[in-house]
Amino acid sequence: MTVQLLHVADLHFGGLADIRQIEALEHMIPDLRPDAVVVAGDLSQRARHGEFQRARAFVNTASDTAPTLVIPGNHDVQWWWRPLVPFGKEPVYRKYRHYFGDELAPTLTIPGGAVIAAALTSHGVAWGSLTTNVLRGEISQRMGLAHWRRAQQRIIESGADVVLCGHDHQEGADVLGGKVVVSTAGTLSTRSRGTRPSCFNFVTIEPTAVHITFFRWEGERGRFRASDTFAFGRGQGHAERRDAAPVTSG
Ligand SMILES: [Fe+2]
Repeated sequence: MTVQLLHVADLHFGGLADIRQIEALEHMIPDLRPDAVVVAGDLSQRARHGEFQRARAFVNTASDTAPTLVIPGNHDVQWWWRPLVPFGKEPVYRKYRHYFGDELAPTLTIPGGAVIAAALTSHGVAWGSLTTNVLRGEISQRMGLAHWRRAQQRIIESGADVVLCGHDHQEGADVLGGKVVVSTAGTLSTRSRGTRPSCFNFVTIEPTAVHITFFRWEGERGRFRASDTFAFGRGQGHAERRDAAPVTSG
């Protein structure tokens, strides 16, 4: 069977969200016909009520088309509560949970059997442990995971076929350890890396292939457009890049 996932991250509702881009994407979701939508962290900028409320409206809109899985990013955690409350994590996630439910690492089963499982990494900047670009950012050169070698090894050993992540504000598509295809979503905020256009990913998973298409923002036209696709072969626990360069749409 084929599973199609709309993968977005780093919407940063609040001052940094680009509301034209958000609204354009909201209009597109039914046409994209995803089997599921994944919002991989940083829905808000400062974990404020108003930011979460607009983020929840986005998630509700997406849910009209397909089941939508949301996980918190480091910006969605009230980490500043932590020094005052030495025991227990409850206060730092209170607002997020109020709007998106108790489950911080939800699991979603798509009809046909594919399972999307979330791995929570938003421990908060107080601990220097941030959410997750799994691979090193091309421009930022930063790793999103604390103890990233160990984390990468655990991802490889998890048996996952595809990992969806965000955090770096630069889109990416690659293979980890010859086994796991990694889709890194860009941002829909004004803080894209290197002044590149904002971007979200559309991931198609087939029994022997994975395709990751970047939809990039065209500012003058006020729309997202499928621009380039990375192809990966997969099967029997292995994955590899098929094309040396992405296939670019005309
Ligand atoms: Fe972010």
